Amino acid sequence: MIKILTVIGARPQIIKAAALSRAVRNNFSQGIEEVIVHTGQHYDENMSQVFFDELGIPQPDYNLAVGSGMHGVQTARMIEGIEEILIAEKPDFLVLYGDTNSTLAGAIAASKLHIPIAHIEAGLRSFNKTMPEEINRIMCDHASTLLFSPTATGFSNLLLEGFEAHTTPPYTSDNPKIYHCGDVMYDNSLHFAEIARRPVGVEADSENFILATIHRDSNTDNPERLSNIFSALNQFSLKHQKQVIMPLHPRTAKILEKKPGAVLYKQITENTLFRITPPVSFLEMIWLEKHAAVVLTDSGGVQKEAYFFGKPCIIARTETEWTEIVEAGAGIITDAEETAIIKALEKFSKDPPQNFPPVFGDGKAAGFICSEILKASIK
Ligand code: UD1
Ligand code: UDP
Repeated sequence: MIKILTVIGARPQIIKAAALSRAVRNNFSQGIEEVIVHTGQHYDENMSQVFFDELGIPQPDYNLAVGSGMHGVQTARMIEGIEEILIAEKPDFLVLYGDTNSTLAGAIAASKLHIPIAHIEAGLRSFNKTMPEEINRIMCDHASTLLFSPTATGFSNLLLEGFEAHTTPPYTSDNPKIYHCGDVMYDNSLHFAEIARRPVGVEADSENFILATIHRDSNTDNPERLSNIFSALNQFSLKHQKQVIMPLHPRTAKILEKKPGAVLYKQITENTLFRITPPVSFLEMIWLEKHAAVVLTDSGGVQKEAYFFGKPCIIARTETEWTEIVEAGAGIITDAEETAIIKALEKFSKDPPQNFPPVFGDGKAAGFICSEILKASIK
């Protein structure tokens, strides 16, 4: 029996962890024991607990309750807490997801204690180091022993950074192993699609709406960019009488609340077709993704889920790590430019893409990851 210790903290990591925890419980319970550490980076009920309840994830064994803060303070508190737990638990592997501050903290704590790291969602790059996530993911990849890339692009990014395609065991952080193995988020979307649930208050027959989410700091913390995005959605909604459904991340909600007098926010709240809601649960979110006409987002996960459900996606960023979506013609990068967003909304409404090549694996990534961690741990 080996012990893995999984660090999660932000909403998408909790959701991704559901896939691996499910594989451990269903197929590897004789070989792998999982200890879950929640850093507390996300803590609102609808950003954290709802996913444990709904997706059957075991309750965390530890919760560091670190909460929000500046990058340095938040990450340092996490490192301190994770280090203590690693010393006590002595896991065979530390499992990390994605690119948040919780990922970075786990990578620093484990690498200093010589505990091998398995990084899920390795190799993704925006080539934009002003994103905190780009720094987090590069640092985590270069401290990892097993690197699981969901896409071919992620895998080739690792080769370009000097990782070797063919290494032989024993694997270490100086002799890492890289994989192209598919996406655990695709595993989840397949697993939960059938039980997706319509959010209360959303009309059952409204298959004609735009689903939008915005939370990236480059958009929320820049008033001009944020207002361009809202203005484009509002104009399109009014012109074409289209509903916009926007489950709002608390970061964005707090910024909008600070400007209650803003003319634009007033216009949006006066537009009865524009529905801003608190964050929804995962089963509700995938219902919205399945039934939307078009998705607009700056989220990584929501871009991919739009693709899984065959929906066009407008990417309100300057670039994407998920380049396959754009190459397939299923995504358009508009940045936060009002006219580009309106043009993309018009295009996708009139002429939705039909081609969604299967570039995110076969829905069995989590099982593959468990078996590789198990093999690499047996000395
Ligand atoms: C973080 C990740 C980002 C990821 C996102 C997923 C980093 C650097 N960023 O961004 O990569 O895409 O999570 O959602 O790790 N807040 C609440 N309640 C909560 C959580 C946050 O009100 O439960 C508010 C706080 O005001 C906080 C702000 O949101 O300051 C930002 O939260 P934080 O976790 O620092 O970053 P995210 O923007 O959520
Ligand atoms: N999500 C959710 N409720 C919401 C918005 C998003 O359950 O109100 C889910 C979404 O389905 C996806 C994940 O959260 O699985 C994406 O997380 P987020 O957009 O916060 O972060 P990112 O993927 O950009 O890191």
